[in-house]
Amino acid sequence: QTPAPCDIVVFGGTGDLALRKLLPALYHQFRDGHLATGTTVIACSRAGLDDAGYRAKVAGDLPAFLGHDTTGADLDQFVARLQHVSLDIEIEEEWQPLVERITRDGVDPDRVRVYYLACAPALFGPIAAALDRNGLINEHSRVVLEKPIGRDLASARAINDAVGAVFDESQIFRIDHYLGKESVQNLLVTRFANSIFEPIWNSGAIDHVQITVAESLGVGTRGGYYDRSGALRDMVQNHLLQLLCLVAMEPPTTVDRETVRDEKLKVLRALKPIGAADVPHVTVAGQYAAGLVDGAAVPSYVADSECPGSGTETFAALRVEVQNWRWAGVPFYLRTGKRMPERYSEIVIQFKPVPHPMFPHAEGTASANRLVIGLQPDEGMKLQLTAKEPGPGGIRLRPVSLDLDYASAFERRAPEAYERLLMDVVRGNPTLFMRRDEVETAWAWAEPILAAWEDGGRRVQTYPAGTAGPVAASTLLERDGRSWHERER
Ligand code: BG6
Repeated sequence: QTPAPCDIVVFGGTGDLALRKLLPALYHQFRDGHLATGTTVIACSRAGLDDAGYRAKVAGDLPAFLGHDTTGADLDQFVARLQHVSLDIEIEEEWQPLVERITRDGVDPDRVRVYYLACAPALFGPIAAALDRNGLINEHSRVVLEKPIGRDLASARAINDAVGAVFDESQIFRIDHYLGKESVQNLLVTRFANSIFEPIWNSGAIDHVQITVAESLGVGTRGGYYDRSGALRDMVQNHLLQLLCLVAMEPPTTVDRETVRDEKLKVLRALKPIGAADVPHVTVAGQYAAGLVDGAAVPSYVADSECPGSGTETFAALRVEVQNWRWAGVPFYLRTGKRMPERYSEIVIQFKPVPHPMFPHAEGTASANRLVIGLQPDEGMKLQLTAKEPGPGGIRLRPVSLDLDYASAFERRAPEAYERLLMDVVRGNPTLFMRRDEVETAWAWAEPILAAWEDGGRRVQTYPAGTAGPVAASTLLERDGRSWHERER
């Protein structure tokens, strides 16, 4: 059902995130008829544009981000809905035009206002305070915070305190866009809407879990941000831990706004702390050197980021343990990196081998079952089994797989993560957003690793661009007698 008309105010309205993700998401929702007539999108920035100037800019820029997925007429109608307010948030008088647009005469007092902070986290607190001073917050207002929420526990708390001083926690939507991915939501459905998985989803049957989020792109033009961040802050503390939570959490009583988040929080609290002494044994940090991606020569991270001598990691691999009854003794291996051979994300549930070799005279061995959940770019599931190869004579054991490809099973466009999440904000559903306690618990766990790395405990190992990370990432598993699942290309 289409939600009632609302105001969506985007701070950072001319920025990369707005143009690449938010406006395309809003465009698709508009085109699919989910943005009610009368909904306004007000972009705020210091670009000094009026409405017409902003519309012209978006009409020029947006098609590149939509690919071929647009008809000119739709785009014109969408762009006509956009407004722009020039605003330097530090200059008090400059807030007035925004105030006038939002509190205009005759506006429905129950109209939802969404303030999307697509800007640097240092501005979250000041913007929230200014919204409050200018009387722009009421019980129908919501604020969306983009990651990163801080760069450590103290800065995350400071942001949460500042925003929490004027917005109630129920009005704060902290985005982790991985939670909006169709494939990630499907993980919950796979686990909890099928009865066959849950009885074996534990240390009794599962040997270990692998979570890989690989990217082939480098840091591009984001070196300024990235060099202060690194893979652990940029990807592990949020996206990978959220995926781990969805794999490891207990079944919530129902899928609603608090129960899922309560269960994820319990997993985060059960993560075994990784202290300075453990860091060299269970973490790996890598940085890409020049290399070849898809046959094309690409520069090193240091050249990309223009940060000579940088020790920032563009790859991280960790061995993580969840200390509870279900997962005792089951390692979770996480890895993520830039400039890996290809962009793909997957979760591998590796089951234990059969307890007794039943076919001693067979050719081949019974390989342990494995469930590979593909998150992107191809969404699907492969269940690896051992089968008898057809034919007379003795038994020949061969691995085979049951494949489910969602694109061919459901022939329809999968909405982008931001589409789903933006509409959840408009509807006031925070289930797929991170609660304050989740964000802070994740930082509390990550902080000792960051501290140990920054205190010199880390040896950032280089890996050539276009490879699967430093050798130490393989050693991390080999020490346990295991290896990373390599995707067939
Ligand atoms: C962002 C990170 O949160 O996620 C980026 O800041 C990363 O560094 C991106 O490239 C990956 O998202 P996706 O949806 O392309 O997997």
